[in-house]
Amino acid sequence: MTNLRLANLEIASLDVDAVVIGVVSNEPDIGLAPGAESVDRAFDGGLAAVLAGLGATGKQGEVTRLPTFGKLSAPVIVAVGLGKERDASADGGEALRRAAGAALRSLAGSASVALALPAATAEDVTATATGALLGNYAYLTYRTGNGHKKPVGDVTLISSADAGDALNRAEVIAESVTLVRDLVNTPPSDLSPEILAETAEQVAGATGLSIQVLDEKALVDGGYGGIVGVGQGSVNPPRLVRLAYEHAEAAHTVALVGKGITFDSGGLSLKPADSMDWMKSDMGGAAAVLGALKAIARLAPKINVVGYLAIAENMPSGTAQRPSDVITIYGGKTVEVLNTDAEGRLVMADAIVRSGEDDPDLIVDVATLTGAQLVALGTRTAGVMANDDDVRDRVVAAAGRAGEAVWPMPLPEELRKGLDSAVADIANVSAERWGGMLTAGVFLREFVPEGVRWAHLDIAGPAFHKGEPYGYTPKGGTGAAVRTLVQIAEDIAAQGL
Ligand code: BES
Ligand code: MN
Ligand code: ZN
Repeated sequence: MTNLRLANLEIASLDVDAVVIGVVSNEPDIGLAPGAESVDRAFDGGLAAVLAGLGATGKQGEVTRLPTFGKLSAPVIVAVGLGKERDASADGGEALRRAAGAALRSLAGSASVALALPAATAEDVTATATGALLGNYAYLTYRTGNGHKKPVGDVTLISSADAGDALNRAEVIAESVTLVRDLVNTPPSDLSPEILAETAEQVAGATGLSIQVLDEKALVDGGYGGIVGVGQGSVNPPRLVRLAYEHAEAAHTVALVGKGITFDSGGLSLKPADSMDWMKSDMGGAAAVLGALKAIARLAPKINVVGYLAIAENMPSGTAQRPSDVITIYGGKTVEVLNTDAEGRLVMADAIVRSGEDDPDLIVDVATLTGAQLVALGTRTAGVMANDDDVRDRVVAAAGRAGEAVWPMPLPEELRKGLDSAVADIANVSAERWGGMLTAGVFLREFVPEGVRWAHLDIAGPAFHKGEPYGYTPKGGTGAAVRTLVQIAEDIAAQGL
């Protein structure tokens, strides 16, 4: 855990391993971002020229290292690019988050770092702190020996702002994102459905959330045919977790529903090896719901939030469900399972129907649901679909302010026909080849309780980052959707629905 503090200190005499400043590009020149003034004074006002001489351009993601030659107590300056002269209100603080994240990543292995980035307002303090904490992430649980750089221990954020709440908010958000990253990164042998449910119990105990866990017997008895069907091929039985946060002055209830497939082999409709090796991330939606509830409990907005984690392991075996089996989802609708790899929508259907019993004003579900999401929107942008255009646009807006890329997608009526089954109420895959992300959304819509507003986030790409780290995003689990879900809850608490 990073030790983070906010202080208004004289930077020149700070005893830290590195001082981080911001650089903006004012083509063709570069400029120093606010916060770097006293560092620049130590260089007699010539720091921008020195950095330009080292090749700094100020573009986002750029990191330039410079020895201080004793001009500061700290031995090193790290200059990070913020892009064009920034308009903080326009990007929601994303340039600052990414710059702080990139700086902390480049400083892994250092003991202490001071951030002299723009931090005049509470929003800037939250953004800088969030980026720093998220960029300072490392998953070292399974590393042995000392060959791997540890995250920075002490981070001092230089600011004259009275922004203790802003700092606290950043820590709450970052701790939840970190929880989700850790869960996604955990090997599936060490994160069975039972262990994921136990983790939820620990989080609930520590934050005062109420919790209820249905085990495999309760799921059979309760008629949760989707979760039972998907889980029946595994020796690790499935779970359904219900978490609840309540506020005495709440005017609205939001239900969050997450896909928690701890490993998706595809089942008997087995995935090829290339598609399977990252399927430990298929519980990213459920983890995001858990992370969001943990943050919401600590931030205490005036709203009620229930969270459902639909958890199972999708494995092939003699007890696995077969392509052409018919299952009965909670509430009674039947589904012909034509492809056991379209399992996410089955566990989600159970949980979405169940969430209706909490009388929510809004259901938001989050799932690593389709490969088609990656085809349509790439690896970093989630898709959002909804049964209400206003709700969909509000999710997009909330994500934007929270610093997550989410794009609105339609639910075309004509796609429903492809899901017609020869024997059951609906089939889990379509005869129609195109628009797979939308078809999955159309399938889920069938299970949304009558008259309830609903939005569906497909985070198949954003939940897990296979490429090189950038900004505050590491390789592996990203913690996608946590910040958006928290923002949605806060927005509704503040503005209604
Ligand atoms: N978990 C996968 C979707 C996925 C793919 C997530 C890639 C992250 C990265 C999901 O269960 C799945 O297998 N979906 C199938 C559905 C198809 C059979 C209709 C898919 O997208 O191929
Ligand atoms: Mn699958
Ligand atoms: Zn899946």
